[in-house]
Parts: sequence; C-alpha cells; structure tokens
Amino acid sequence: MKSVMILGAGPYQVPAIQTVKELGYKAIVLDYDKKASGVALADEFYEISTIDKDRVLKKAEELRPNFIITSTSDLPVRTAAYVAEKLNLEKDLSYANSICATDKSAMRERLKKSGVPIPNFFSCRNFDEFTDAIRRFSNYCIVKPADNAASRGVKLIDKNLTKSELEEQYNFTKHYSRNGVVMVEEFMTGPEVSVECFIVNGKPNVIAITDKLVTSLPYFVELGHSEPSQLPEDVQNGIRNVAILAIKAIGIQNGVSHVELKITPNGPKIVEIAARLGGDYITAKLVPLSTGVDMVKNSIFLALRRPFDIEKTLNCGSAIRFITAPKGVVKEIKIEKNPLEIEGVKDFQLNVKVGDSVADVKSSNDRIGFVITQAKTAKEAIEIAERALSYVRIDVDFNFGKGGLIRQPIVRREFA
Ligand SMILES: Nc1ncnc2c1ncn2[C@@H]1O[C@H](COP(=O)(O)OP(=O)(O)OP(=O)(O)O)[C@@H](O)[C@H]1O
Ligand SMILES: [Mg+2]
Repeated sequence: MKSVMILGAGPYQVPAIQTVKELGYKAIVLDYDKKASGVALADEFYEISTIDKDRVLKKAEELRPNFIITSTSDLPVRTAAYVAEKLNLEKDLSYANSICATDKSAMRERLKKSGVPIPNFFSCRNFDEFTDAIRRFSNYCIVKPADNAASRGVKLIDKNLTKSELEEQYNFTKHYSRNGVVMVEEFMTGPEVSVECFIVNGKPNVIAITDKLVTSLPYFVELGHSEPSQLPEDVQNGIRNVAILAIKAIGIQNGVSHVELKITPNGPKIVEIAARLGGDYITAKLVPLSTGVDMVKNSIFLALRRPFDIEKTLNCGSAIRFITAPKGVVKEIKIEKNPLEIEGVKDFQLNVKVGDSVADVKSSNDRIGFVITQAKTAKEAIEIAERALSYVRIDVDFNFGKGGLIRQPIVRREFA
C-alpha cells in the first residue's frame, strides 16, 4: 500500500488526513502533540515535532513514504520540502525556496531581487541594528519577528520611543522570533486583502481575493474576512498581478499559496506570501461558500498527482467575523438569539465560558469565537455576521470587580 507522510495533526489538518485516506493511501501522521484531533484518524502516528526537520527525515528514511505533505501550517512547509529533496520524492517547492516562503527576511530579499512591490525593510540581528533601522523611517514603522505567525509580536511603533521603550519593544518581538531576526518595515497604509492561489506546473490560478478587517492600531489581529473582494475591478486586477509575480519569485511549482497584500496609495504591495492554504477558515469555509471550490481536497489531489477540479461553481458572498472581548474574566454570557438559527449563518463557535480569562487582543489566539455566513453578496454576508454577533453579549469583569457589558462586534469597519 502506498503511503503519505502528513506533517501536523491539528484541527486544520484533519481534512487533509481524511482526503489521503479516502484516496486509499496509508496516512502516516506526525505531530508534537499526541492529543491533536487528527491523531485518531492516522493509520500510523509518531510524536515528532513537524518543525524538527532532522527527526522527520529520520522517520521518513525508516518508513519510506511515497509522498510527504502538509496542509495549513507554515513551518512544516519547510520540513516537507527538506525531506522531499533528501529522499528524492515529488518536489513542488525546493528547500531553498521553502525558506523564502517561511522566513520573512529571506522572503523580502527574494521579492526585492525579483522586483515585486514590497515595503522598505531591514532584517535586524541585534538591538543596535534594530535602533539604526528604526531611525531610517520618518515617524512610524512596523516591527515583527521573521518567522512566527498569528500576528504574534507584530506592532506599529513610533520612532521617537525612548531607549528603554525601544529595548522593551525589541525584547517583546525578539521573544517570538525563532531565528532571532527582527524585521523593521515601512508601515503600509490602505485596505488589506489575501489572495488564495492554486499553482499548476508553475502557473498560478487565482481562486479568491479576500477583504480583511483588522484590529485598531498598534496591533494587527484579523477580526474578519469576506469574499469576493469589494474593491474595484481594476484594483483587483493589480492585486492579482502582484500576487502572481510574488508566487513566481518564490518559485512555487505546484501547490497552493496564500498571499497577503496591502493596497497602498502606490499600488498593491506584499505583506507576506505563504506556500500553504490560508488559515482562519478562509480556505476551509469561505472559499467553498463563495466559489464552490474545495482547495483543501484539491491541493491534496494535486500533491498526490491525482486529477483535480478548481472550476468555480458558485458566485456567492461569504464572511467570517471573530469575537473578541477586553482583558478580564468572563462574568456572564447572554445569547439572546442563537446565531445558528439566523438564515445565512453557516457556523458559530464561542470558545469561552463563565470564569474563563480573556486576554487583550494582541494575536489571533486571543480571539474567543466566530460566526461564518453565506449570502448573495459579500456585503450581505458581512451584515448577517454582524447582526448574528449583536445577539451575543459577553459580560467581562475587567477592572477590579467592576463589570463591563460588551456587545459584539466592537471592531473598526473597513469594508462594511
Ligand atoms: N509593513 C507593514 N505595513 C502595514 N501593515 C503591516 C505590515 N506588516 C504587517 N502588517 C500588518 O500586520 C499583520 C500581521 O503581519 P504578518 O502577516 O507579517 O504577520 P504574521 O504573524 O504572519 O500574521 P498572520 O499569521 O496573522 O498572517 C498583517 O496582516 C498586516 O495587517
Ligand atoms: Mg500574515
């Protein structure tokens, strides 16, 4: 029986494991967490971190799978490329290119070399380089770790911070950087989008452009996504062109890509590009609800060299709105109307209960639930999501015993 080594067993990986099994392959699954939700589906499971490329290689040398894949997480893309190269398996992305798809410093260098529009940037290896870089910007700049995700450690800062404030910021961001590199970047203004692409023999096919709703400054946590983009068609054409240039520059031969861009006054520029599916339910739910395309399944078909189908069969709107609350302890949850009973609501989850602590929203992990909707248009899908969440009230005890009643959603609107 042919086998596929799958890196990652978390909830977002479950559809990939299921698809591999449906196609009749043995599913060899690796994850550092033996309690991950996909473990039960595995034909064989090994408790190995998916970013420990040498341990994964050792296991692959022993088991000799026919393919090695991952689905939604970032750093395992690098591990899969490394092992595929060492074992001479099907190669959709070289190891060298996989570094450019997962390390923001290497990514920016590659995009710059290829003439893809990006913001000015500096890759800083110590505090002196960090302060020098910040001085080069006129007032504000973005700082972020070179190789993390979920907006951890990403912040807009004022260049006129004191030395000790800069030190505090440097340590905060460096703490999230695995390779120790901290990026300092020009702050791009304008709406933000992501582009979901399916690449076949080096040719990128744009499946969807997703509009984003992001928290107020100085942190950048995504609070909502909607499709199709409501930006004007000529702007969307510019977005497609820049996303395609970026995919070609990174050298993704076959597979998927999630490209994030800001539409600046000087045109679309790349925030980052990934050689994996978009998370945050974008490819798992929003793309199928708006286009009918199942990128999750079809990306596995493509990786295993099976026939795939990325033809759009729907022309609908879809949206997700995340739930947040201020820092504190949840005192009471009142759901006046179950969002799932509202027409157009496809999914609703609230992941806190009374007594749970809620953190300030500094990273995606601080969001406490979501609602997903489908309607005729993106605008309608957003309206339904926001209406559904207006029935969810979370009473947070946030100030030494004083309560605060929060009606959702408390977010800045960019595309509503
Ligand atoms: N140079 C920039 N200019 C303006 N905004 C930026 C810039 N870099 C990052 N951002 C904002 O910060 C967010 C997170 O940055 P980035 O995507 O680089 O980090 P991440 O940790 O990979 O995030 P995620 O995993 O949530 O996509 C972006 O979606 C964008 O809103
Ligand atoms: Mg990002």
